[in-house]
Amino acid sequence: MSATPILEVEDLSVHYQVKRGVVHAAEGVSYRLEKGQSLGVVGESGSGKSTVATALLGLLPPNASVTAAKLEVNGQSLLGADEKRFNQVRWKEAAMVFQKSMGCLSPVHRIREQFTDVVAVHQPNLPRDQAVARAAELLASVHLPATVLNAYPHELSGGMTQRVMIALSLVHNPELLILDEATTALDVITQGQILEEVTRLKGEFGLTTMVITHDMSVVAATCDRVAVMYAGHVMEVGPVRETIKAPRHPYTALLTKAFPKLHGERSRILGIPGSLPDLVDPPAGCVFAPRCPRAVQECHHERPAVFRVGDGHYAACRLLAGEGGEPVARVC
Ligand SMILES: Nc1ncnc2c1ncn2[C@@H]1O[C@H](COP(=O)(O)OP(=O)(O)OP(=O)(O)O)[C@@H](O)[C@H]1O
Ligand SMILES: [Mg+2]
Repeated sequence: MSATPILEVEDLSVHYQVKRGVVHAAEGVSYRLEKGQSLGVVGESGSGKSTVATALLGLLPPNASVTAAKLEVNGQSLLGADEKRFNQVRWKEAAMVFQKSMGCLSPVHRIREQFTDVVAVHQPNLPRDQAVARAAELLASVHLPATVLNAYPHELSGGMTQRVMIALSLVHNPELLILDEATTALDVITQGQILEEVTRLKGEFGLTTMVITHDMSVVAATCDRVAVMYAGHVMEVGPVRETIKAPRHPYTALLTKAFPKLHGERSRILGIPGSLPDLVDPPAGCVFAPRCPRAVQECHHERPAVFRVGDGHYAACRLLAGEGGEPVARVC
């Protein structure tokens, strides 16, 4: 395993306090991301993908509480970090393109001001013309003309907005870029163009990326590794090709069948019967057991161990004990 992880998350849990009780949005999440890699985080809506990413940047709402054994970005621990500490990391070390990007841009300011505001976060004394020149340079890198600087957000198409958000996230040369459903709302042609641009920027800027999506085909096209989340838990993490071709967790197996294949034989798209459990009162055993076609009695009562099933490939399913899996302390 390479010695330079940019992100190390161990046993991360995030709970939201709500009127009804506590939402167990993330439980015991562990993953590791090496410099230059691209990790896809995939799972159904509500599985905790955004929660975990938002926790990494210290941007969770006040009703959230976070615990973890390790939370490190670029070798710096962010466990219990205060706002000032997170501010040093945000944009500079790790930046994020948010799921609802449109809402992140101020509707009453031109794109130019949105850039100069972000530049000022870490370079308050940079002369304005230099900040604007940097903005134009970044816009060019996502194939947008400098005239976009004069536009208001409502004058941009969805694709242009996402490009602006990606350019904004690169202002302070972050090493880690988290893209949360960055292309979900776009047509497939624009989605493809933006994903290609992200891959190019990754090489150009030496970025490490985390691509959060519910779409397995986006992960297949852009990532080296994938973490599959369900109801706040990482069910499987491994190399993309191996995990998609030969999934070891029953949930991953069903998820891969729920997306159309671009190449190869035609196959039926299968849905996954049932729905996510109530995260205020999650199942006592494996969280997927109520929907799992392979569940045995114990699955409903006991949390599954994590098994190593290949090189850098882990899955949390008790059935793997009988399929050559080697139990380990956690997914890493
Ligand atoms: N501020 C909040 N207060 C209470 N519960 C929340 C809050 N934010 C998220 N949740 C809950 O936490 C769980 C995980 O939500 P999260 O947004 O992380 O999922 P997600 O995987 O990103 O979903 P999507 O694919 O729809 O974006 C959900 O049950 C959600 O309702
Ligand atoms: Mg989300």
